[in-house]
Amino acid sequence: MTNHTQAAGSCEQEASDPSDRRSFLSMLTMALGLSGGYGALALMAARFLYPAKPPARQWMYVAAIGGLEQGGSVLFSAPNGQSISVTRLAEDGVVEDFIALSSICPHLGCKVHWETQNRRFFCPCHNGAFDAAGEAVSGPPADSHQNLARFPLKVENGNLFIEVPLA
Ligand code: FES
Repeated sequence: MTNHTQAAGSCEQEASDPSDRRSFLSMLTMALGLSGGYGALALMAARFLYPAKPPARQWMYVAAIGGLEQGGSVLFSAPNGQSISVTRLAEDGVVEDFIALSSICPHLGCKVHWETQNRRFFCPCHNGAFDAAGEAVSGPPADSHQNLARFPLKVENGNLFIEVPLA
C-alpha cells in the first residue's frame, strides 16, 4: 500500500510539474523568435540579391519625321499619364534632330514650352528656363538643379518613336 501511494503521487507530480511546462513554453517561444528573426534576415537577403524590376517601358509611335518642322513641337501623352514635349531642333535627317522632354516644370509643375527664337524651354510661372537639352539654366529650377526629364527617341522608316514607361 505504501508503494502504491508513492507511485500514484509520483505520477501526479510528473503530469503537473509547472517547471516542465515553463521550460517547454520558453523553448517554444525561443524557437518561434529565432525562426522569425532568420525569416526576416532571409527576406532582406532575397531583396538585396533580387531587387525590384524597373518599370516596364515600350517604344511608341510619335509622328512621321517629315511632319515636324524645325522649331515645332508635338505633345505626347505616355500611357502612365506623363506629358512629354517632342521638339525638332534641327533638320540634319538624324534622330539627334529631335529631343523628348517632360513638359512639366520640375519646380512646381507648370507647363514648359519651346521658344525657337531663344533656343530654350521656358516656364512662365516663375521664369524658369532650360537649354535645348533640358538642363535648367535660370530661375528656381536652376537654383535647385532641377532639369527636365529626358526620354529616348529613335527613327525607323521615316517615323519617330519614343520609349516611355507603361506604368
Ligand atoms: S513652376 Fe516652373 S519655374 Fe516655378
